Amino acid sequence: MNTSQLLETAKTLAIEAGKLILEMRGQGVSITDTKSSVNDIVTKADAVAEKLIASRIAATHPDDSILGEEGTSTKGKSEITWIIDPIDGTVNYLYNIPAYCVSIAACVKDANAFESGYRAVASAVYNPSTEELFYASENSGAFLNNEQIQLREPTPLNENLVATGFGYTQERRQEQLVLLTRVLPSVRDIRRIGSAAYDLCLLAAGRLDGYFEKGIKPWDWAAGALIATEAGALLLGIDEANAPGEKMFIAGHPQTASALQKLIAA
Ligand code: IPD
Ligand code: CA
Repeated sequence: MNTSQLLETAKTLAIEAGKLILEMRGQGVSITDTKSSVNDIVTKADAVAEKLIASRIAATHPDDSILGEEGTSTKGKSEITWIIDPIDGTVNYLYNIPAYCVSIAACVKDANAFESGYRAVASAVYNPSTEELFYASENSGAFLNNEQIQLREPTPLNENLVATGFGYTQERRQEQLVLLTRVLPSVRDIRRIGSAAYDLCLLAAGRLDGYFEKGIKPWDWAAGALIATEAGALLLGIDEANAPGEKMFIAGHPQTASALQKLIAA
């Protein structure tokens, strides 16, 4: 496994697909499908960008597997699985709110690290509207446009700005509402930015203190999780018996992540 090669591919493709979705945004957005609810949309750009990323990976890393939010699922014979989200923050994309990203992670199997069983070793998240390229490879630090980034210094929970997100079904949102009532009274404020990948990168860059969400999928967090970890974050699940993942995903400075976990599990 050549991690620097994987990182180069992730960075190059995130920028290429990012420029493509931004250009397509300029021509308007066409909704082609919905998933878990009427608000869980798929746009033409989602499909076109995922196809572009998958075809480039297939050409340059033909032995690797690929798992994409919009349905790509190919099985290769190497140890690497690429987990990709062609547009994370699709609703922001629809409304032209500049907080949507391309998220690409080269992962290995690791049954203990995450509920999904995959851990990124190199990843990139690109926000084409702001031209921010966040990236990391394992044990090499996290970067934003070539500058190393780090978490903010930890502060007490009541001085923490914490991001979260909501799913698309009524049932999921009822559960998330309960969690919000536990967290909101105890923190500085809540941000619902609309892209889990971007939330994790903003945390990494010291623009948030913490992040939690119930229900996110591997493509939402695979790339951002490595970037946040390499910037100093601890990632937690709902309790010690559960790795971070769909059940619960908590991220922050170790002090912040533990405090959030206690609050959420209360
Ligand atoms: C969503 C975003 C959002 C999060 C949702 C995700 P999508 O992904 O990451 O911030 O709260 O849980 O589904 O639909 O924009 O690709
Ligand atoms: Ca997503």
